[in-house]
Amino acid sequence: MDGTKEMGLRNVSSTCSISDMDDFDLSRLLDKPRLNIERKRSFDERSLSELSIGFTRGGLDNYESTYSPGGRSGFDTPASSTRNSFEPHPMVADAWEALRRSIVYFRGQPVGTIAAIDHASEEVLNYDQVFVRDFFPSALAFLMNGEPEIVKNFLLKTLHLQGWEKRIDRFKLGEGAMPASFKVLHDPIRKTDTLIADFGESAIGRVAPVDSGFWWIILLRAYTKSTGDLSLAETSECQKGMRLILSLCLSEGFDTFPTLLCADGCSMIDRRMGIYGYPIEIQALFFMSLRCALSMLKHDTEGKEFIERIVKRLHALRCHMRSYFWLDFQQLNDIYRYKTEEYSHTAVNKFNVIPDSIPDWVFDFMPTRGGYFIGNVSPARMDFRWFALGNCVAILSSLATPEQSMAIMDLIESRWEELVGEMPLKIAYPAIESHEWRIVTGCDPKNTRWSYHNGGSWPVLLWMLTAACIKTGRPQIARRAIDLAETRLLKDSWPEYYDGKVGRFIGKQARKYQTWSIAGYLVAKMMLEDPSHLGMISLEEDKQMKPVIKRSTSWTC
Ligand code: GLC
Repeated sequence: MDGTKEMGLRNVSSTCSISDMDDFDLSRLLDKPRLNIERKRSFDERSLSELSIGFTRGGLDNYESTYSPGGRSGFDTPASSTRNSFEPHPMVADAWEALRRSIVYFRGQPVGTIAAIDHASEEVLNYDQVFVRDFFPSALAFLMNGEPEIVKNFLLKTLHLQGWEKRIDRFKLGEGAMPASFKVLHDPIRKTDTLIADFGESAIGRVAPVDSGFWWIILLRAYTKSTGDLSLAETSECQKGMRLILSLCLSEGFDTFPTLLCADGCSMIDRRMGIYGYPIEIQALFFMSLRCALSMLKHDTEGKEFIERIVKRLHALRCHMRSYFWLDFQQLNDIYRYKTEEYSHTAVNKFNVIPDSIPDWVFDFMPTRGGYFIGNVSPARMDFRWFALGNCVAILSSLATPEQSMAIMDLIESRWEELVGEMPLKIAYPAIESHEWRIVTGCDPKNTRWSYHNGGSWPVLLWMLTAACIKTGRPQIARRAIDLAETRLLKDSWPEYYDGKVGRFIGKQARKYQTWSIAGYLVAKMMLEDPSHLGMISLEEDKQMKPVIKRSTSWTC
């Protein structure tokens, strides 16, 4: 069936359609509008079973057995095995205080949170700015706590910045580009506030942040979903902002793949790390933001054109990712036995991957049960590294099939020591070393093995792991990770990242009081306590889209 046509026709109203969007199952979980802290914490059985809809294993049963041994009564606060004696962890109050200290004001209005407030650090660099990607977990924490104002202000402020003319030397950037970060300059004498923004023209390496626009769209949906306030997304400014972002990544070119071609360092990993090409982090965020935009774009003349393009792209992107980026034991074995130099449509080894290029570590790393989306796929090049963000977002956006989502969780469980170790969560695995490090990072001293982006452990990723765990019905994995974080995060003053093979050491150049480490922890805690929050950042499998392939039987679209 032509899912494209069907999806395009599904909603013919000319208003923002977030309330009847394709993740309608989860939307029922939200007793929206959710505007005050005194949230209703009641879950009925149907709601919880919808939470893990589509997942055959784990799901509700698992949730129940972990959190409510006593049965039905446990539904009220699924996060608490000691439900009746539930006390917030002492770290929570400290985290809220630190998060509030990080709030940045523009003309008296809260507009974001500063990346880090580390008074001990000699170099400020740009950690005194509001980063779009860093603000995302802060925004979720505020939304979950019934404080949407700062999120709305942030969305509008960054939208305003998008309208600036952006130049690097004599080259003009695309209109839709969103800043990586911005800063408020206070003039105490004139009593004025002005904004400066960085679209890549000041960033180390001069790379534009491809992820910023995607996070912006995903946050707009989270805001809408959480508050029930459709009016913001419906404004002509927001509609235009979305269209401008989308036109940057939906434009026609020489591409032979539906994935998005990117420069190295264009996302959370914002330095050279060999992720140029089609990095999983960007592809997963791209997919998620396309789905979010689809639910918010108006079906007016301008919107319609984009809706059609989105639907087509989603179809192709989903198929490409699920087929070619997916790696499990069977797939690895198939690649290992590949023939090369195949020509024409009948080729099995379409990208001409040379089996000798498979690194040794993958054979040990790959469990019999489990799998993941690899880092990158392009002609004759597969980056077999694991990247946490892309895999978690693949689960949240339903880029991964329910089976693939389960397999990712299986992998995390069976490779716990490698991927979580003593501090959740490794940004990438494994680290690159020696000669390879020299070539790939350009001898970057900040990215030496098992440090920073090169196999470092980032507490901010805890919220994504927790969300993925809840979605797949395996909250016990999140609980285990949160327990680990609680042994150290506060004591170590909320570092940006940890170093070492098992993430045992505070990162060599890690900032302390890194805001997204703080916010990530709070979001993880709040989600586990009240899983209905998941609806803000999760999209169910689109039921209009029939599964295109069955994993491991064929590797084609
Ligand atoms: C580092 C990180 C980047 C983050 C920024 C601010 O550059 O690599 O992802 O946004 O710090 O915290």
